[in-house]
Amino acid sequence: MTGSILSAFNIIVGICTFIFPVRALDNGLALTPTMGWLHWERFMCNTDCDADPHNCISEKLYMEMADAMVKDGWKDAGYEYVCIDDCWPSRDRDSEGRLQADPKRFPGGIKKLADYMHSKGLKLGIYADVGTMTCAGYPGSLGHYDTDAQTFAEWGVDLLKFDGCNMPNWTLLAGGYINMSVALNKTGRSILYSCEWPLYEWQFHQPNYTAIRQTCNHWRNSADVFDSWSSVTGIVDWTADHQDLIVPVAGPGGWNDPDMLVIGNFGLSRDQQETQMALWAIMAAPLLMSNDLRAIDPQSQRLLQNRHIIAISQDPLGKQGTRKAKVNGFEVWQRPLSTGGLALAVTNRQEIGGPRHFPLTLATVLVWRSCYHQCNVTQILPQYRELGVQNLFSKLQLSVNPTGTTLLLLSPVPAMSCTRLQAKKWLRYLSKDRAQRTAL
Ligand SMILES: *[C@@H]1O[C@H](CO)[C@@H](O)[C@H](O)[C@H]1NC(C)=O
Ligand SMILES: *[C@@H]1O[C@H](CO)[C@@H](O)[C@H](O)[C@H]1NC(C)=O
Ligand SMILES: *[C@@H]1O[C@H](CO)[C@@H](O)[C@H](O)[C@H]1NC(C)=O
Ligand SMILES: *[C@@H]1O[C@H](CO)[C@@H](O)[C@H](O)[C@H]1NC(C)=O
Ligand SMILES: *[C@@H]1O[C@H](CO)[C@@H](O)[C@H](O)[C@H]1NC(C)=O
Repeated sequence: MTGSILSAFNIIVGICTFIFPVRALDNGLALTPTMGWLHWERFMCNTDCDADPHNCISEKLYMEMADAMVKDGWKDAGYEYVCIDDCWPSRDRDSEGRLQADPKRFPGGIKKLADYMHSKGLKLGIYADVGTMTCAGYPGSLGHYDTDAQTFAEWGVDLLKFDGCNMPNWTLLAGGYINMSVALNKTGRSILYSCEWPLYEWQFHQPNYTAIRQTCNHWRNSADVFDSWSSVTGIVDWTADHQDLIVPVAGPGGWNDPDMLVIGNFGLSRDQQETQMALWAIMAAPLLMSNDLRAIDPQSQRLLQNRHIIAISQDPLGKQGTRKAKVNGFEVWQRPLSTGGLALAVTNRQEIGGPRHFPLTLATVLVWRSCYHQCNVTQILPQYRELGVQNLFSKLQLSVNPTGTTLLLLSPVPAMSCTRLQAKKWLRYLSKDRAQRTAL
């Protein structure tokens, strides 16, 4: 893409396609990307409560996370779902064939945990698998979809993460995910349905995203996130490389899921954490943190609770952003917003050197249809700064740290209208000096 960037045509086409041609799963949920906490990346399959009672997968862990979510402003910021991942069940189903929680680690059972979450105004997520066993070898749901959906509904569960390990034959994947979606619907309880269908199907062929959007509220496309910069960039690159296919199917009710936020752990620098947060908001991704909310550093907490970034993530238009340009070691990402404005992220992908300047010309990013020839620019990351009203010809000098991101909000300045003359002038400008503009 380098070089052929920022053509007016691309921008017009990219931004004006606001229509969602694909019907979403009709359960009234996930009208904006899901926000919450999910145990996997940070706590994995730690079941040894004798050796590590503070961090093992037990009811205590989720209750303590819920307490922290209420006490430390997470709930107020919008984080709502407390989600269990693999390794919660007993190794065996009960005498009636139902899944049951490990009795030692969940003495109160899942129903009690769900009641606890609801009493705090939170929601509970659970985990199961479409195949014969979960990825960690606990009982799978194949052949038990109706029973398991009914069990989750009776317990008062609010979200199901449905993994895709151990399917005897991948040709059964789609049917399995669809059957569970139907089973959840039949319970009559609103249960948000988080799938991994495309991730497992990509190994064999290109998944049918129309069917996926009709079946799931979000869907994992790419590998599990790890606590590292290479993992985060791997996911970001995968998403950009497939954006023509996956962005059109995202919208209210159904989202592409690039996996958990690992902000507040060990592997990402401050700049890298800001990049993950900014790009997950631009990508309209579920914001499911996997970290220890009982002991998180204040800087990571402020980033995760940044209301400006959360507002971008939760923008009601629900249009996933895209990578618009890749030039000179920078990437430019944009997400159109319901205000008629844009969120714009400039990431410095160079992993050497110091802060580098990126000259941003508004003419290259403004929305053609809105056709305001000026806009109000607010920098959200790395610091909040009001940059004021900028016109088409002003150049903003951004300074972006290695692996960091500058996140801007561009809002239309009200009462601007576009005359034919202005439009012509702008087009002339865009066709002129192309070399100069793309040299950036
Ligand atoms: C089940 O599906 C129908 C039709 O698609 C929908 O109207 C209804 O709200 C769904 N119920 C639940 C609980 O998701
Ligand atoms: C998987 O299912 C397909 C279609 O039913 C069949 O042709 C194929 O042989 C199966 N593969 C395996 C490994 O069982
Ligand atoms: C899904 O349901 C259909 C219809 O009952 C059935 O034929 C199919 O085997 C089911 N698929 C799986 C994976 O359970
Ligand atoms: C994809 O799924 C949709 C909805 O189920 C279906 O109408 C369509 O035919 C499928 N497309 C392909 C190529 O299989
Ligand atoms: C620009 O945006 C800032 C931050 O939202 C706001 O305080 C300011 O009033 C806006 N200015 C104009 C001219 O819209």
